[in-house]
Amino acid sequence: MLSTALTSLLVSLVSLFTESTDKETSKPPSNPQLNFELRHLHAVSPSSHVVFADVPNRAKGILSAGSNSHSVKTRTIKSWKPPSFELHSQARLQSLRFGQSLLHDFPWEEEEVLAPDVEDQATLLELAKMSNNAYVDFNETGWYELSSNWSVSYPFGWEPDADGFRGHVFATPNNETVVLALKGTSAGVLGGGGPTAKKDKLNDNLLFSCCCARVDWTWTTVCGCYRGGWKCDVDCLETALIEDSLFYPVGTNLYNNLTYMYPTSDIWIIGHSLGGALASLLGATFGSPVVTFEAPGEKMAAGRLHLPSPPSTLHITHVYHNADPIAMGTCNGVLSSCALAGFAMESRCHLGSSIVYDTVGNLSWSVDVRTHGIVNVIEKVLTDPWLPAVEVGRQVPEPKTDEDCVECYSWEFGDFAAKNGTGMT
Ligand SMILES: *[C@@H]1O[C@H](CO)[C@@H](O)[C@H](O)[C@H]1NC(C)=O
Ligand SMILES: *[C@@H]1O[C@H](CO)[C@@H](O)[C@H](O)[C@H]1NC(C)=O
Ligand SMILES: *[C@@H]1O[C@H](CO)[C@@H](O)[C@H](O)[C@H]1NC(C)=O
Ligand SMILES: *[C@@H]1O[C@H](CO)[C@@H](O)[C@H](O)[C@H]1NC(C)=O
Ligand SMILES: *[C@@H]1O[C@H](CO)[C@@H](O)[C@H](O)[C@H]1NC(C)=O
Ligand SMILES: *[C@@H]1O[C@H](CO)[C@@H](O)[C@H](O)[C@H]1NC(C)=O
Repeated sequence: MLSTALTSLLVSLVSLFTESTDKETSKPPSNPQLNFELRHLHAVSPSSHVVFADVPNRAKGILSAGSNSHSVKTRTIKSWKPPSFELHSQARLQSLRFGQSLLHDFPWEEEEVLAPDVEDQATLLELAKMSNNAYVDFNETGWYELSSNWSVSYPFGWEPDADGFRGHVFATPNNETVVLALKGTSAGVLGGGGPTAKKDKLNDNLLFSCCCARVDWTWTTVCGCYRGGWKCDVDCLETALIEDSLFYPVGTNLYNNLTYMYPTSDIWIIGHSLGGALASLLGATFGSPVVTFEAPGEKMAAGRLHLPSPPSTLHITHVYHNADPIAMGTCNGVLSSCALAGFAMESRCHLGSSIVYDTVGNLSWSVDVRTHGIVNVIEKVLTDPWLPAVEVGRQVPEPKTDEDCVECYSWEFGDFAAKNGTGMT
């Protein structure tokens, strides 16, 4: 017979034991708040190579006045990554040559990752600020390529107003989490005024327009796939893209270079506009958590680039408002400011989920490309609590998927042999 004393001793021993095993298996708090500091700038050299520059400590001091530390709330999510980038590239190439069907048995690996808490208003605001590049304008950094020992100065493309493809790399002090921020503008994410500008506009129009940026008969199309009426040859479209696209390969090079610098870190990718679209395509490739701001619909681009599609893309979150014609895919009228700049941004379906602010309804904004800028979004949409969300006990509008999204509905895509006299070569 056990005495009560002995029983209680046993009980406390058992509970002690349970407690200690709990402690052994319990991880650090699953949703730590992370603080990021600016580490590197990245850009593309005139020869389309990815180059980096380290942010010197001296500059960090100067920058801290403009708050160089970004505090972000986190949560744990599921995502899908390929066993290796080589396997992913192979599958993509096979699909390009032999059709989509081969992509279905791609061996995606599910994993739990720490991601930004996209339903927290302060977190979205902080990530939007990190996507903005306004505060960096020092000019003496040495730019370097990872693949060589060479350190060079690249004045090219880093003027405050230039449209070049570039951005920032942030990291936590212990390097465990790294944020890759991609800057983009509505006027081309690659090159800008540089030697690749012409090619880049062509790429944008191939990826984000319905059929080679054919807006109406006054437009010179960027590829010869238009087949009269509303017919578009889809093979032709994809061939044109493969031959010439820099958009996606520059992004994958950048990501691979970053994993070389930070081999054991978790990587998040964020970006504005076309930088956001590229962030999402990279997230769909590597399984990294993604948050974009005012990105044009990139689902069609993922298809045209033949990316193997993961079982879910819910690790990708788009944040935009409905007065922005670029994110909404309505930037396509012949007289729209997009068309006047030579861009047709007609795609509207997004991967993953979207947090859409109804600025048309609740702030009485009219649809206007001038509402697209990141500074506008930071100051007028994300800074204050969003009242319609607060009213239903949330901080930000509810994330939703674009499940029934249709785009380019007036077009017929198919296998149309080239007719003499139509389209353009
Ligand atoms: C970095 O990217 C460049 C392309 O810009 C590539 O040639 C190089 O091999 C990459 N380096 C590493 C270490 O991944
Ligand atoms: C950096 O910019 C300043 C003016 O903003 C200029 O005076 C200085 O010469 C520049 N330095 C280099 C190395 O280009
Ligand atoms: C980099 O430097 C190492 C040693 O200094 C040298 O062996 C190697 O060839 C260099 N690589 C390049 C690409 O110059
Ligand atoms: C983090 O990475 C940087 C390179 O960007 C390196 O200089 C630093 O020592 C690393 N810090 C830690 C704690 O590993
Ligand atoms: C915006 O939303 C708030 C909260 O739901 C509401 O009180 C306000 O009337 C709305 N404004 C407009 C113009 O609909
Ligand atoms: C275009 O016309 C030429 C002669 O007029 C003909 O030889 C050629 O096969 C035609 N091409 C197509 C694609 O119909």
